[in-house]
Amino acid sequence: MHFETIIIGAGAAGMMCAAHAGRSVLVLDHAKAPGEKIRISGGGRCNFTNMWAEPANYLSANPHFCKSALARYTQWDFIELVNRHGIAWHEKTLGQLFCDGSAKQIVAMLLAEMDRVGAQLWLNSSVAELRKTDGGYSLDVNRDGGHRTLTCRNLVLASGGKSIPKMGATGFAYDVARQFGLNVTETRPGLVPFTFSDARFKPLSGTALPVRLSNALASFDEAMLFTHRGLSGPAVLQLSSYWHAGEAIRVNLIPELDLFTALRDQRQTSGRRDLSTELARHLPARLVDFLAPELALKGRLADQSDTALQTLCDGLRDWHLTPSGSEGYRTAEVTLGGIDTDGLSSKTMQAKAVPGLFVIGEAVDVTGWLGGYNFQWAWSSAYAAGVAI
Ligand code: FDA
Repeated sequence: MHFETIIIGAGAAGMMCAAHAGRSVLVLDHAKAPGEKIRISGGGRCNFTNMWAEPANYLSANPHFCKSALARYTQWDFIELVNRHGIAWHEKTLGQLFCDGSAKQIVAMLLAEMDRVGAQLWLNSSVAELRKTDGGYSLDVNRDGGHRTLTCRNLVLASGGKSIPKMGATGFAYDVARQFGLNVTETRPGLVPFTFSDARFKPLSGTALPVRLSNALASFDEAMLFTHRGLSGPAVLQLSSYWHAGEAIRVNLIPELDLFTALRDQRQTSGRRDLSTELARHLPARLVDFLAPELALKGRLADQSDTALQTLCDGLRDWHLTPSGSEGYRTAEVTLGGIDTDGLSSKTMQAKAVPGLFVIGEAVDVTGWLGGYNFQWAWSSAYAAGVAI
């Protein structure tokens, strides 16, 4: 059986590419259903893009690589597609756009787009072997217990990264890339909670507050959540993509507050108030209790000198923590690193040295921030390959 184009992976990128790749397209996936990560994304509402997406929101060994694709298929193009399909949406925060209804609407939209151009979808299908032929590629495919050999002119790798192996994520795209001589950069989990082996934050589990979380490479002002295993929440997930094992992170627990002035003023008017009680007006009470020994919180406001208040505020503004690790691919939203962009055309996503081989989506060494940026990369890179085919 011959197809012009075979796309491996019916996820965000694979389905989007199929909708733009012209005629005679087959999308195959080893899963039972297409777009499973879309379905579970954004708490079931899919944060499908971000109004403010731009190249600065992406990590890659080559930060310029994503520019061309993102410019040619923008967030506004995807919003237009969503509108055309009558899917209602809203901005939650920071430009993040979610479906009002369900993420399943995005999956249905992509399937309808594939239908419109007559692309075929084979589920429960895995590739046993892949070879380069004179005019393209030959694939041995296992499907529903049977075995078939397929040929195609263009082969698109859209099988994603390694995050959430329970959902069928594999390193398949990386293996195929290496088979054809492409380089694969070091991969590691991104957008992932931090763990602390001593479970020190267990008493704070469930407590959340707005923080500024930083290391030498990046800084994020968003919420942080204490968990029984460590730290999570948007600020933590964001910083995790810039974190390397063994490094310390810095937490500013009072990013938007001039706490020193507030405490000094209170000392003036309510000096008899307990320092911890006063602090609990600005921070979660459980966190104040937790920090009390470390920050030597004791006595009344009136007992605190300016220097003591300043030392306290400095401590709250610059809390150094060293995570023992991360939760890994088990819960990571994305894989950092991947197929080296040096070997790919940024205009078409085609391998420079392997005609007819394209790589799109998360398999490529381009990773977005939390907040709809990763789906936007999937749409943009898929469109670039689709129109080039
Ligand atoms: P994707 O992983 O979507 O698709 C790959 C497909 O290939 C899958 O269908 C898989 O079954 C198939 N496959 C894998 N190996 C194969 C093999 N060997 N043979 C055949 N098929 C194979 N991003 C965002 O922008 N907004 C959000 O709200 C979220 N939320 C979110 C929540 C959770 C829990 C996760 C894990 C991730 C997110 N993300 C996200 C990230 C987003 O899901 C991710 O960046 C995109 O799905 C990547 O799209 P791809 O099409 O590249 O891979």
